[in-house]
Amino acid sequence: MKKTKLESIASGFILAIAFAASNAWSAPEEIPGRGFVWKDGAEIYAKICAYCHEAQVGPPIRNRELPTEYIRTVVRNGSRAMPAFRSSEIDDESLVKLADFISKKEAKH
Ligand code: HEC
Repeated sequence: MKKTKLESIASGFILAIAFAASNAWSAPEEIPGRGFVWKDGAEIYAKICAYCHEAQVGPPIRNRELPTEYIRTVVRNGSRAMPAFRSSEIDDESLVKLADFISKKEAKH
């Protein structure tokens, strides 16, 4: 059966979406080996945590002044539907920055 051009574009598009969705939270795109450094907590939050925590998959975690120690523990160990992240994904130093970023209240304008 020959597909029309439009059909093949459409199915390619759907595949691309499915691929993006299944890979989104295993971000970053490159496995951070040696040499990979997260820019700051905001970047990690935007690229990993926001996928669930800005999408009603997980509870809101920003601006709640959650203890940083608690945030770090949840990230390393997971919690029910929340996956655990290893230090090869988020290194210890970055995790400290991430926990600070999440815990602190956004400056009021
Ligand atoms: C795949 C989806 C997903 C991703 C990605 C994710 N979380 Fe979660 N997270 C959840 C869910 C679901 C819960 C609620 C777990 C439960 O019911 O115990 C949760 C709970 C939490 C909690 C506890 C909140 C509370 O109210 O006690 C913290 C803290 C947290 N996540 C931090 C993070 C951080 C930091 C990241 C990024 C490194 C992250 N999460 C990435 C799904 C996710």
